[in-house]
Amino acid sequence: MASRSKANETMKSVLAIYPGSFDPVTNGHLDLIERGAKIFDGLIVGILRNFDKDPLFSLDERVEMLREVVKPFANVEIDVFSGLLVDYAKLREANVILRGIRAVSDYEYELQMAMINRKLNPNLETVFMMPALSYSFLSSRIVREIAQLGGPVAGFVPAAVEQRLRAKVL
Ligand code: PNS
Repeated sequence: MASRSKANETMKSVLAIYPGSFDPVTNGHLDLIERGAKIFDGLIVGILRNFDKDPLFSLDERVEMLREVVKPFANVEIDVFSGLLVDYAKLREANVILRGIRAVSDYEYELQMAMINRKLNPNLETVFMMPALSYSFLSSRIVREIAQLGGPVAGFVPAAVEQRLRAKVL
């Protein structure tokens, strides 16, 4: 069996991209970022510039909120991308796509994306991680809906995001 130092010599540095809309970033996203930051050498949170969607928060607002909440993680970067994720991964020389799976219901869509991305670039690995159980019911869409209907979102999103959500729906 190879010694640990021998194994380290052949170990690659792993740069992962965590792509998404992040409209807005939730505590579930943050939980996944924290887990990803622990196991990857570097983690890029890639916000999709999606011209089809009408987001609640502008791209700049989403970048600002994410930059604020990832401050504790030195190896996490916030960036914006458009076009195919595989092309962006190539541009950034990333070797992993990180995605969160909350429940079985997420799996079908995530599997489809992972398989398509593998077809487009067989060298790019998709890694799934599960957020803490307490966030398994959480989504940006649900958070937006609660805020827009005047409900409380404390505990669902970081404090900085909560303030912005309140200001947005007033
Ligand atoms: O958080 P979301 O909105 O579910 O994230 C979806 C995202 C951004 C990961 C996905 O839409 C994406 O990768 N879009 C980029 C376009 C692309 O590469 N499409 C082909 C693979 S599905």
